[in-house]
Amino acid sequence: MAIMSSPLTFQPVLDRIAAEIGQTPDRGHPADYIPALAACDPHRFGMAVAELDGTVYGVGDWRQPFSTQSLTKVFTLALDLAREADELWEHVGREPSGNPFNSLVQLEYENGIPRNPFINAGALVVTDRLHSQTGDAAGTLLDFLRAESGNDGLAINEDVAASESAHGDRNAALGHFMASYGNIRNPVPVLLDEYFRQCSVEASCADLALATGFLARHGIRADGSRLLTMSQAKQVNAVMLTCGTYDAAGEFAYRVGLPGKSGVGGGVIAVVPGRCTLCVWSPGLDEHGNSVAGVTALDRFTTITGLSVF
Ligand code: DON
Repeated sequence: MAIMSSPLTFQPVLDRIAAEIGQTPDRGHPADYIPALAACDPHRFGMAVAELDGTVYGVGDWRQPFSTQSLTKVFTLALDLAREADELWEHVGREPSGNPFNSLVQLEYENGIPRNPFINAGALVVTDRLHSQTGDAAGTLLDFLRAESGNDGLAINEDVAASESAHGDRNAALGHFMASYGNIRNPVPVLLDEYFRQCSVEASCADLALATGFLARHGIRADGSRLLTMSQAKQVNAVMLTCGTYDAAGEFAYRVGLPGKSGVGGGVIAVVPGRCTLCVWSPGLDEHGNSVAGVTALDRFTTITGLSVF
């Protein structure tokens, strides 16, 4: 096994992975529930690695903004935990669901408490609580991503948000159902608007690898201030490992061996605690909603470098 010791060695690793991915015909299919995602080319591929000090390496479409979708669930979780700490865990669990990300079935058995913050139901609870804390959940998220990436140009694609809303019946059902258990504090239409705008933030692999850095730095932001305690950063990484890729989290842990989080825009972020963060983008998804080339690229990264949590 080749353990990488110098940061300078990341670029050849990324070049090698991109060349391998280029030879891989099976890329899955883009999400098709909204036109903006359905139109994405599954052959696009980008990958970035950010060092703890903000040095970034990339390959392919690593500077191309894409729809972050469920990747944002990691950041809203961290932003809410930073504000209300353990009280959040009284309203959302931290066990894998074993179900698709937009499933409703467990909610009734479990009294409106979602299994974890990364399925849609759990993310709605987190966004609701962050909105109560800040008065502007999506804006708080966007400010954080801009600050951590150093990219003031990051923005919400309002057309995508409108499209999410137009096709948002299932998320609306989740919101109203949890509200019936008293687990949503804002009016459901207000919450849904925040959630759809959150999902519609666009950012590149470089932006997202940088923005995830606080999880590799044990809670420390890019400017040296602390967002999360060491323990909270560990908790977020642990929930990413066990729940970040939905009903394929076991397979992701087996193949990649890192805390990770996927989004239906084709992005996947991953953390090597104490070492670096990664973001891969390729819009073709598997049946679980995870990027086919993205997961393969992360599998190759940890295999080639030996950098994993195991
Ligand atoms: O709420 C939804 O269904 C989408 N806007 C986001 C879902 C998502 O990214 C799940 N990830 N794989």
